[in-house]
Amino acid sequence: MAASGDHKGWMGRVLKGWRMGWGRLWRTEAQPNLLSGSQAPLIQRVACQAHVTFPGGRDHSSALCGVACGSQEQIPPDFAENLSKLKILVAQVHAEDLCIAPRETTPKPLKPHLPRVTYMHICDTDGFSLSVFLLQRDARIPLHDHPGMHGVLKVLYGTIRISCMDQLEVGGDQCPGAESQLFQTPLQQEALRPAVFRSQAEYTEASGPCILTPHLDNLHQIEAVDGPAAFLDILAPPYNTDQGRECRYYRVLDPLRPKEASSSASDLPREVWLLETPKDADFWGEEEPYPGPKVLL
Ligand SMILES: [Fe+2]
Repeated sequence: MAASGDHKGWMGRVLKGWRMGWGRLWRTEAQPNLLSGSQAPLIQRVACQAHVTFPGGRDHSSALCGVACGSQEQIPPDFAENLSKLKILVAQVHAEDLCIAPRETTPKPLKPHLPRVTYMHICDTDGFSLSVFLLQRDARIPLHDHPGMHGVLKVLYGTIRISCMDQLEVGGDQCPGAESQLFQTPLQQEALRPAVFRSQAEYTEASGPCILTPHLDNLHQIEAVDGPAAFLDILAPPYNTDQGRECRYYRVLDPLRPKEASSSASDLPREVWLLETPKDADFWGEEEPYPGPKVLL
């Protein structure tokens, strides 16, 4: 994720210097509890715990493979405990902690030039990014992946529906869409991926965090339900195209149809086929200023 406008220019340089040098020294040696102690703003404590849990320079994909494959040898011994602490802190975050007022449903349809999704950058390191996504009524973040990444998502207001999937190893199964005229080109056949549609659930401010890992619930689609919604988002490590963590978008051959959510959710998990696609032209967002407490790392 790119730095926010606040973090560009001289402020960006100040915060980078703080992060890399004297700020860390001051925090750890002179004022150890000011940033992460109980007196610190909740979002500051979340960031500090995220920094401990995801310090950067660690291959989280390999670490979580240990969980998936039954091997514990690559999992840092304190990772599960730190992640649990992070989840407890994140569960306490509400919109008012970030000085964000829940937005009312717009009585008239939004104008086409206004974004359906906006984004607030709070902070980022090599290990994680911390941000807020705000969705207008019925807005949708299309199905996308988080290669080699963890995610911790907490609703701040409104209701969001999250559909979670994972890609499966490519096998020799006949693609169910092969007979469809929609998927006859070699390019589209190459872009098909077998996957498992694991779950679909609705989250509110009262819900605990939704967690994704490199190998479980790694792909998701997020929709605002019955009004505007916002959620806090921790991604670890952040997207980074140079390091192979590029966000890719997909469509499901067995489409996700919200009106059938209750009936379709009852037969989950089930295998589906995904078609990797360019980002939808009608999905775009803009950054807006983060109004909450500044976070220092
Ligand atoms: Fe996501």
